[in-house]
Amino acid sequence: MPTILITGANRGIGLELARQYAKADWRVIATARAVAPATELASVAQQHSNLSIDPLDVTDNDAIAALSKKHREPLDVLLNNAGWLGDPRKQGLGELDAKVFETVMRTNAYAPLAMARAFLPQIEASAQKNIVVLTSGLSSLANTRNFGNLYFYRMSKAAANMAMRALQADLRAKGIEVGILAPGIVDTRLLRQSGWTGEALDPETSAAGVIRNIARLKGQDPQIHLYSGDAVPW
Ligand SMILES: NC(=O)c1ccc[n+]([C@@H]2O[C@H](COP(=O)([O-])OP(=O)(O)OC[C@H]3O[C@@H](n4cnc5c(N)ncnc54)[C@H](OP(=O)(O)O)[C@@H]3O)[C@@H](O)[C@H]2O)c1
Repeated sequence: MPTILITGANRGIGLELARQYAKADWRVIATARAVAPATELASVAQQHSNLSIDPLDVTDNDAIAALSKKHREPLDVLLNNAGWLGDPRKQGLGELDAKVFETVMRTNAYAPLAMARAFLPQIEASAQKNIVVLTSGLSSLANTRNFGNLYFYRMSKAAANMAMRALQADLRAKGIEVGILAPGIVDTRLLRQSGWTGEALDPETSAAGVIRNIARLKGQDPQIHLYSGDAVPW
């Protein structure tokens, strides 16, 4: 039974990823910033004994170290899903709030790298050896040429892309594959907070695509891949 660790698994795309991997008989370590008994994630854990829940705030380095100490077993996939949009009104030309910048960057760009470093021995010891980050199409310099606003979120995802690319260069010799995957425009709290009112995918479709892409990670130079499998230009 392969093992996956998913951050931010209590709602949105992370919850759906946890549910689908559990159904597919993976051992799932689902982490959530706040662990409560009466949540959707708790009910997934009740239905699937192969899913367990650990508390984790990804901006807390001590908590990351403690979790890595607790789970010493081989880790086939580290899936950095947790993400923070930040208040859109505080990351535009109206107002640039440095505290919001710090939280967004810390959560979206620093945390995936810190998680990868902390779990490296477990990833190396596994069969599949994958490190994945959920990026965003909004990180693409090419695709968002004429689109303003959401500065911090977009900067943080572009930074996460670069962190993963550098990580791939450092880790390829160990047989580790890094994935930079964009889930598409998905109907979640994060999307609603962004103010988007157009069409959106359901989390089930997006998560299924992300899972297919993770299964295909083999020997490629890391590139942003959409849930559909299409490459997104940097
Ligand atoms: N939805 C989209 O259209 C879209 C598009 C492109 C990329 N993405 C990316 O996909 C990922 C999942 O987003 P989503 O759409 O599912 O958003 P969501 O429903 O808002 O869920 C975000 C998740 O991240 C968790 N999180 C945030 N900060 C955290 C922290 N410091 N420590 C631990 N967990 C934290 C949240 O936990 P709490 O419940 O505790 O807040 C929640 O579980 C994110 O990385 C996002 O940037 C989403």
